Amino acid sequence: MGKSVRVKSFELVTRDISDVDLNLLHGLSTAVGWPHRLADWDFLRNIGHGIVAVDGIGRVFGSAMWFPQGEDFATIGLVITSPRTQAQGAGRWLMDQVIERCACRNLSLNSTKAAFQLYLSLGFTHEATTFLHRGIVSGLPFPPSPDAALCELPADQLAEVMACDMRAFGYDRSRVLALLSEIAVTCVLRRNDKVVGYAMRRPFGGLHVIGPIVADSDEDAIQLASWHFQALQGQAARIDTREATGPFTEFLAQCGLSVEQTALTMSKGRRFLNRIAAEPWVYGLAGHALS
Ligand SMILES: CC(C)(COP(=O)(O)OP(=O)(O)OC[C@H]1O[C@@H](n2cnc3c(N)ncnc32)[C@H](O)[C@@H]1OP(=O)(O)O)[C@@H](O)C(=O)NCCC(=O)NCCS
Repeated sequence: MGKSVRVKSFELVTRDISDVDLNLLHGLSTAVGWPHRLADWDFLRNIGHGIVAVDGIGRVFGSAMWFPQGEDFATIGLVITSPRTQAQGAGRWLMDQVIERCACRNLSLNSTKAAFQLYLSLGFTHEATTFLHRGIVSGLPFPPSPDAALCELPADQLAEVMACDMRAFGYDRSRVLALLSEIAVTCVLRRNDKVVGYAMRRPFGGLHVIGPIVADSDEDAIQLASWHFQALQGQAARIDTREATGPFTEFLAQCGLSVEQTALTMSKGRRFLNRIAAEPWVYGLAGHALS
């Protein structure tokens, strides 16, 4: 694989994403209309690995990141090329390098429409659609379930949710969850003293993202989302879910959130999404890059 690529008149080389100024990464995502703040880039850069395409004077023309989650899995995200160099081969060049560096891992990502053909041609297969629900939180909180207890979970007690999350997500993402919990408020749902679900909320892109949301049923996912909505009345919130229909998505609409965008969950290697009846499920994504 080439370590440099010529795109129009630019000779681009690869650099580690940690070596470039955050403002340049922020400029790149802003140029393609993405909402990431400097703080979001900073967080993602600390949690994962990445490369950037830079020219001879250090200007950033592209990025791609990967996030190891457990021993044999990684999610891919922040794949961007600057609008003036798109459709010239830089996106494929960056992705080839990411795949090479993740060689022993099963991979998943949430693709925009613009990137779908690229990922298909790299051997990814389509598994599901992800719906981005966004809006100003309104409406009455959902009445709490009589047989379950909801409460905030201190970040240092996160171990309680790991086992539940692993059954839903399919991989051990405890490191990512621990880092998320440092910037999130976590709500846990217990039934008979056992953790049966949890949901985190954190600032992202100028609003509040609620995710991950992990629960046994739509009803429990509603309880968890509702707990966070009570704190967010009148504020902008976002939930990314792969639920296309059903009580959970109806509840989001009742609370003022509507579908604004979709993305396509794809995987390479072992199939990523394996829903098992009566087991917990991921109702809300941690984020597009983290799944
Ligand atoms: C998606 C994106 C990263 C692709 O980067 P790129 O530099 O344009 O990609 P490449 O030039 O390497 O093209 C790769 C493939 O994408 C497809 N493609 C790229 N531009 C295209 C266009 N204008 N029309 C149709 N297909 C196109 C082609 O299938 C191409 O395959 P080819 O190599 O056989 O020609 C870039 O368009 C982008 O940053 N978009 C905005 C952010 C985004 O959506 N990121 C993806 C997140 S999952």
